[in-house]
Amino acid sequence: MSADSLKPRSPVTAPARWYSDPERWALEKTAVFAGNWQFLGHESDLPVPGAWRADVLAGYPVIMVRDMAGDIRAFHNVCRHRAGPLNVEETGVCDGHLICRYHGWKYALDGRLRLARDFGPAADFDPRDFSLFPVRIAVWRGLIFAAMGEGAPDVDGLLKPLDARLGNADWSGLKVGLRRAHTLNCNWKTYVENYLEGYHVPDVHPGLNAEIRAENYRVTVDGHVVLHDAPPRSPDAVYDGLWAWLWPNIGVNIYSEGLMIERMTPVGHARTQLDYIYLTPNGVPVPEATLAMSDQVTAEDIWIAERVQQNLDAGIYQTGRLSPKHEVAVAAFQEWVASSCTSPSPEA
Ligand code: FES
Ligand SMILES: [Fe+2]
Repeated sequence: MSADSLKPRSPVTAPARWYSDPERWALEKTAVFAGNWQFLGHESDLPVPGAWRADVLAGYPVIMVRDMAGDIRAFHNVCRHRAGPLNVEETGVCDGHLICRYHGWKYALDGRLRLARDFGPAADFDPRDFSLFPVRIAVWRGLIFAAMGEGAPDVDGLLKPLDARLGNADWSGLKVGLRRAHTLNCNWKTYVENYLEGYHVPDVHPGLNAEIRAENYRVTVDGHVVLHDAPPRSPDAVYDGLWAWLWPNIGVNIYSEGLMIERMTPVGHARTQLDYIYLTPNGVPVPEATLAMSDQVTAEDIWIAERVQQNLDAGIYQTGRLSPKHEVAVAAFQEWVASSCTSPSPEA
């Protein structure tokens, strides 16, 4: 466990205005999201050279593509001419070029501008000055992460605490079996904080509570990873007793068969999108019992997060107290948000 995990943190919650203020969100967009790794997808999303996938990460349109040599690359999905999109659909396969949908500029898969279609003579126009804006990529156990800025630390180092817990668990045969999205009317932090504690499980999730030994529920913070240990009552349980989370917004929910990556993406200050990516052995359909439990827990979490948001917006509550037994990860999260927003942030 890192020294950071042992630091005393404020027992007082962050102020309610952090969860309602559009200016706060504008600050977090660069200070938190551009400066840290975002989950972009899985290697199986790009099965062949030329396969691409477009996404929007906390307001940043991004496209990832497998180049003709088989390497994964990513770019801002923004043409250098007049900011058109290279692709607007979610996914597809190209023939070795990305073509802007606005006026047809054509880019090689390393980002270089190959053709400015029918541009006309311009002596001072050098296509080498108009390559796509690159996005950093890292792959860990088949998961693809993207970072807009240079400041994001090494992914292997960041995920070491989870890697140590997973040990020899073999993820190599996993493929995307299902994608689902849910939209919530709440600030992204309201949802993340709910994810970071198991204190609410007995009250909000009766079905899940019956599956686990709630008295043994434990949350630990190790570096910028949070581990939830919730031992299942029986070997037939859907969950495997471990949930992990990586700062700032990536959940890793381990099932007895496969896992589900949960990305908690802000869509402005008042809405949050949950993207669920289920990874199953060879991409087989997700078992019904797993989906049913996942849907039930999600509906319950959405219900409570939206009620909490309503109360944060009402202006009566300003701050509260965090449980030293159950809410250590909420305290850590609030501290990281605060420190990101007060220190100089990398530009996207
Ligand atoms: S904006 Fe892309 S070609 Fe014009
Ligand atoms: Fe929950």
